[in-house]
Amino acid sequence: MADFEKGTRSECANDCASCEPVSYDDVKDYYGKKLQKTADLKSNACIAPAQPIPAYIRKALTDVHPYVANRYYGCGLVVPECLEGCRILDLGCGSGRDVYMLSQLVGEKGHITGLDMTEEQLEVARKYIGHHTEKFGFSKPNIDFVQGYIEALKEAGLKENSFDIIISNCVVNLSPDKTKVLREAFRVLKDGGELYFSDIYSSSRLPEEIRTHKVLWGECLGGALWWEDLVRLAEEVGFSPPRLVTASIITVDNKELESLLGDYKFVSATYRLFKIPKTTTKKGCLVVYDGNITGCDKSLEFDCHYVFKVNEVREVDAELASILKNSRFAEEFTFQPDAQTPPSGSCCAPPKAILVNPFELIEQMKSVGTTSATGGCCAAQTSCCK
Ligand SMILES: C[S@@+](CC[C@H](N)C(=O)[O-])C[C@H]1O[C@@H](n2cnc3c(N)ncnc32)[C@H](O)[C@@H]1O
Repeated sequence: MADFEKGTRSECANDCASCEPVSYDDVKDYYGKKLQKTADLKSNACIAPAQPIPAYIRKALTDVHPYVANRYYGCGLVVPECLEGCRILDLGCGSGRDVYMLSQLVGEKGHITGLDMTEEQLEVARKYIGHHTEKFGFSKPNIDFVQGYIEALKEAGLKENSFDIIISNCVVNLSPDKTKVLREAFRVLKDGGELYFSDIYSSSRLPEEIRTHKVLWGECLGGALWWEDLVRLAEEVGFSPPRLVTASIITVDNKELESLLGDYKFVSATYRLFKIPKTTTKKGCLVVYDGNITGCDKSLEFDCHYVFKVNEVREVDAELASILKNSRFAEEFTFQPDAQTPPSGSCCAPPKAILVNPFELIEQMKSVGTTSATGGCCAAQTSCCK
């Protein structure tokens, strides 16, 4: 058995001798045998996001075969912007719903690899490659599915610096070694690449009795990271500070599981983490979004702080300035030299804190009456990954 298969928890704060980690086989059994379709889930942790889905994404979802779509176990909408021509990796792709959705959005010149450890899930995913290639009008598939572990991408044959974007939907929580997952993701991303992923987070570190409960773990609750630990792990691995896109509360809706969980609260949250070269000097600046990204012809909703309206001058913090200049977004913006005072007509000053507590964001969203910090956008074409 390889080291990563032993299921040791490098993030276990207690280092307790009695820790009986839920094993890879337990998770494979849950997703390969116990669950046959979305409706078999025992809680609502893995469900469709509450936020409104933009029309072009709804269309892409409608074109996914129902047999695949009915075996979706994600907890968010993993559709970053600016996708044409990109090479994407989906960590824990399951039966492939997001892979098939994104296959349409990267287009024939792009490519998407779905990776999962569970044979039964991959069987469903692979069965529909021909169907979707034909449906999308592609001359050959822009998809492949690989069996492997998200903690061991090298062993799965994935090369370093080879992906523009990594997505993942409700999977990292199932890993016994989140540090390894982030390290591997960092390794296979190109410079300027992005990890854009939805997952479940807890309101504080979870105790052992929750973390070792097989059903809670399988339902994506027991292995949830405390959101502040994601921030710490991202920094350790070398990613830019996680930028929160959106969050929604998990209500569980199962009396038995709720009583085991006590006062611990959970959210589904979508974060974006970038791999930015360390040598980059970071300085805030003024930027103008050009409106050429597919689906974002009026505005680009980058995260819960920043919505870039087309042709509007916006001041951005030093982290975001370096992300925009060093990623696939560089060609979508005009950068203006740093100005102490934003020119007239510019929008609000950058927010003071980059890091946002997702539980607080949800409270704020409730008070202003929105279900999501990000909303919809629509139409236009540009190629983002070359
Ligand atoms: C909650 S499901 C989500 C599946 C898919 N992302 C979706 O949205 O439908 C979790 C998936 O992650 C896979 N998985 C869990 N841990 C994994 C690991 N360490 N390596 C590879 N795949 C893993 C499981 O096999 C399962 O298919």
